[in-house]
Amino acid sequence: MIEGVAEMLREGKKYLIGNWKMFKDEIQAHAHFHLLAQFLAEKKIFLDVAIAAPSVFLSDLVRKTQNLVTLLAQNVHWEREGPFTGEISVPMLRSLGVSGSLVGHSERRLSFGENNVTAGKRMGALLRGGLKAVLCVGESLEERDQGRWSRVLETQVCQAFEASGVKNAFEILGSFAQSPLLFVAYEPVWAIGSGHAASPAQAQEAHSFLRNIFSFYFGRDVGEYVKILYGGSVKASNIKDFLSCPDIDGALVGGASLNVQEFFQMCERAASLVKG
Ligand code: PGA
Repeated sequence: MIEGVAEMLREGKKYLIGNWKMFKDEIQAHAHFHLLAQFLAEKKIFLDVAIAAPSVFLSDLVRKTQNLVTLLAQNVHWEREGPFTGEISVPMLRSLGVSGSLVGHSERRLSFGENNVTAGKRMGALLRGGLKAVLCVGESLEERDQGRWSRVLETQVCQAFEASGVKNAFEILGSFAQSPLLFVAYEPVWAIGSGHAASPAQAQEAHSFLRNIFSFYFGRDVGEYVKILYGGSVKASNIKDFLSCPDIDGALVGGASLNVQEFFQMCERAASLVKG
């Protein structure tokens, strides 16, 4: 294990990712991104802010990050190149300077046939390429009602890691530089876009469970290292409740990230919890 890495990474920093999904045209995307960078430059807040933008905007937005906003894709293929019409690759993201990608979002799972194996292969390609991977997991309402949420999360994480080809902690942490690469977003499907967020207690319970899964399968240091974000109807009015929980390192925000002022408020409230 790399000495001191886990300790350094558990320094209490919070992470906020806005997932723009398939929203905004070019003018809106640029205006919003520009305002966000300006806001972060002025406020100098101690918070890691990322936007997962539609892929068509990445090459232009990457020039506007000013090292203040991390730019992510919403999906990426596991092959380096090939006849895969409509896909984008890790080397393409790297060549632009994009920092990583979401993988296995429930909307990809529900609408585009994504599963634990494909999500895991995408995650493996990102980590091997030294880019950030945000693996999205989460149970359906039926699975929660049947008391199966923990089994579902364990299966999602384990199958994804098996498919990723990432075998051990060293491989995950090996290309570690200044910022973490491995993120898991706990997004209960029933909370996404529904306006009915999980309770902070439900989220904390699931996050603690996920952290234990990482410790159990990959070692305690990886359990400490992995950043676990909550997603599902997070907004300015509830973000502090989630981010105050000990195992919640940040939030993945969909709908509320599309509104500039609401997102600024979320940044400020999240940052207020961090000792700068
Ligand atoms: P939401 O979406 O914040 O609109 O619930 C979260 C997500 O899909 O990542």
